[in-house]
Amino acid sequence: MRTIKTRHFTGTTDNTVTKRELENRKVARKAAAEGMVLLKNEGQLLPLKEGTKVALYGVGASRTIKGGTGSGDVNERETVTIFQGLKNAGFEITTEDWIEDYDRQYQAARYAWRDEIEEKASKLEDQVSGFFNIYSTTKFRMPAGAAITQTDADVAIYILSRVAGEGADRFDAEGDYYLTKEEKQQLSDICSMYKHVIVAVNTGGLADLSFMDEYSNIEALLQIVQPGMEAGNAFADIISGKVTPSGKMTDTWAYKYEDYPNSKTFSHNNGNVDKEYYTEGLYVGYRYFDSFDIPVRYGFGYGLSYTTFETKVLATELKENKKIVIETEVTNTGDTYSGKEVVELYATCPAGKLEKEYRRLVAFAKTGLLAPGQCEKLTLEIGLDKLTSYSEKEAAWILEKGTYVIWAGNSLEASAPCAVLNLDKEVVLTKTQNICPLKEELEEMKQSSEKMNQKLEALLKTAEEKKVPVMELKAADVETRVVEYRSNVECVPEEARKFVDTLSTEKLVALASGDPGKGQGSNLGSAGISVPGSAGETNNCALEDGVPGIVLADGPAGLRLMKHYNVHEGKIVNKPFKFSLEGGLFCEGEPADPGETYYQYCTAIPVGTLLAQTWDTALIEEVGEMIGGEMLEFSVTLWLAPGMNIHRNPLCGRNFEYYSEDPLLAGRMAGAMTNGVQNVPGCGTTIKHFACNNQEDNRMGSDSILSERTLREIYLKGFEIAITESQPMSIMTSYNLINGVHAANCEDTCTKAARCEWGFQGVIMTDWTTTEYGPDCTASGCMRAGNDLVMPGAFSDRDNLNQELADGTLSMEDLKACISRLVNITWQSMEFEDAAPYKKVK
Ligand code: BGC
Repeated sequence: MRTIKTRHFTGTTDNTVTKRELENRKVARKAAAEGMVLLKNEGQLLPLKEGTKVALYGVGASRTIKGGTGSGDVNERETVTIFQGLKNAGFEITTEDWIEDYDRQYQAARYAWRDEIEEKASKLEDQVSGFFNIYSTTKFRMPAGAAITQTDADVAIYILSRVAGEGADRFDAEGDYYLTKEEKQQLSDICSMYKHVIVAVNTGGLADLSFMDEYSNIEALLQIVQPGMEAGNAFADIISGKVTPSGKMTDTWAYKYEDYPNSKTFSHNNGNVDKEYYTEGLYVGYRYFDSFDIPVRYGFGYGLSYTTFETKVLATELKENKKIVIETEVTNTGDTYSGKEVVELYATCPAGKLEKEYRRLVAFAKTGLLAPGQCEKLTLEIGLDKLTSYSEKEAAWILEKGTYVIWAGNSLEASAPCAVLNLDKEVVLTKTQNICPLKEELEEMKQSSEKMNQKLEALLKTAEEKKVPVMELKAADVETRVVEYRSNVECVPEEARKFVDTLSTEKLVALASGDPGKGQGSNLGSAGISVPGSAGETNNCALEDGVPGIVLADGPAGLRLMKHYNVHEGKIVNKPFKFSLEGGLFCEGEPADPGETYYQYCTAIPVGTLLAQTWDTALIEEVGEMIGGEMLEFSVTLWLAPGMNIHRNPLCGRNFEYYSEDPLLAGRMAGAMTNGVQNVPGCGTTIKHFACNNQEDNRMGSDSILSERTLREIYLKGFEIAITESQPMSIMTSYNLINGVHAANCEDTCTKAARCEWGFQGVIMTDWTTTEYGPDCTASGCMRAGNDLVMPGAFSDRDNLNQELADGTLSMEDLKACISRLVNITWQSMEFEDAAPYKKVK
């Protein structure tokens, strides 16, 4: 029995802070503090003692960047800046005058920026999507602030900030990746005036840190990314020692931008934003630096603590189920601070017929809070699938014959061999079909096999000398899974498939896209109807048949809704499309007149990268469950998050939304977030952007050109892990093309990979307006590929579906398969009284 809930206007008519807001802010604060990475702490400068006098400078002091711009923004009630947070924690700030002056400069710059945008927009024909392009490409450059004058302080803190967002990539230029002249001057003045200096990096993507080589009195460095609405309080928690840092880098911080393997060709850097050749192949992030022995400033998995730890490997075993189990014990060996530590396991796989990266992350775990002297046992598991490589020739995931070395440590650099696995013969773990073939030649980067073999030989020698325990695996004992491929029309939930036979063609076509034409205002980003500020809604045309529309809202840094809206004569009053100076693009503004105002304050959590820097899946699950609670309160079924694309280059404009350069970490984080959200009845995540959405310039038209092996091992791997381990309710395809095929129209990724290979059971949707840019990506193409829902839905999508049904180029069966999956998910949504947590309904 499915009973549809009665809809009410969402939010409260009372503007006072709710208990839920207060409770959820605590979770946001905890996650923010736990994600911050302490990169340097010479002479134990941090934590600062109570009552320390702090000279606080930098654009992020009073204008702390809580998150990026665009759909990933969140309209929270307020953000605690670093200035405010430090004051809340009882520090004396000696630079209030500088900060006040900065605020004035900032306001003026903000107005000038708004005027520039409005001036450009006044000449536009298409106010909505055209406006967004102008907004995202007219960068707001924060003024640097006044010259530094010395104050009577014990320590200076400098906050380096940058904003980025969707629709545009960053530049390796001053004011973006590099410091401006003014910022350099400020840092130089600060370092000459103050003895002890702390720098915090408050940027969405990595920035140049070469100033660290110039000034020896920058004794402490923190990577705080963009910490959400509790930024300042969380920062103060770290600075004061209330929280001991335990975050670890999820990316490699190179010495120079040019050190990244695709630095010259990435996005606009080579003047070609139409085709992006992934010539570095597997060598993304640490896989490159580690394999090619390129020194780095701060390596993957690295982060300091206020205390010290010892990690011992107690036992290693190959279990009967063919999982490698590594039992570790972590002890807090310090005497003052409690803290948490991460155990990271890496693997070196034998280089036989396939070239391999030197090491890859294969497992990780984090301790609870350990008091000085306290220890905790952590047991980590490595499935054999984590050791496979993809052979395009055999269309299979294979384990090559030879020796596999497992490493353990608290960073990639500090890890040491702890186990060895010998495999007697090559074996196929999973037999697949080839997908996404290259349409043109692509030469991928290669290592010198001689050097690689030398490195491997040396490693095996060390392992032997150190008497690292050895496990033996026989190929004959490993089972091969042969994927059974089914077509789009065969991957259907039975009950829902029968049900859709009862719907008219008109309804089927309507359900295939969102609900256009209801005066939503902006299409892109806030096309929601019944929940103002939500990103979209599925079609409500089959309500009487028992299929209500469901509401979809962004992420990933919280739930993005309007802070407030008005209801007049029983109807939501539509507000004109506008953007605000202070906060989000889509959902700000004054409460519209007339009517009663409803308030919908959601919690702005840290951006994806900072969340991942916690390396704490239990904490991320808690954050997810908190978001799920807000979804239930505001009637949102699908959260358009988490974003989990790979950080292929530091200049991608949306890196802040994503987790890491490593697919295992990204997959596990997305899985943990999904587990949390989906603990809440009828709520689900939407993992995005599937796949290879690694650049923002020309994002609707850029073609990611890469080998199948790279695609599978790096860019699909995270999605595979999130799906096989956590079964998210939905997937959002990306705007870009993959080897010449629009991701939204790609049967290989949607049906073959997601559904057949990984067992995805939910609904797949397009990114917003994907089908509206030219003839190559169509609504019918989505249905044929198994991409079930075109969002937010335009009349042209319906025209296309009707036309192709009439022409016979779209079969009714394909359309029905897609709609049956949408119906199946809708039936499990929070729109129903009796909804249960999705993951348990599987
Ligand atoms: C973004 C998506 C987002 C959608 C809805 C698009 O512009 O790429 O990530 O979920 O808008 O707001």
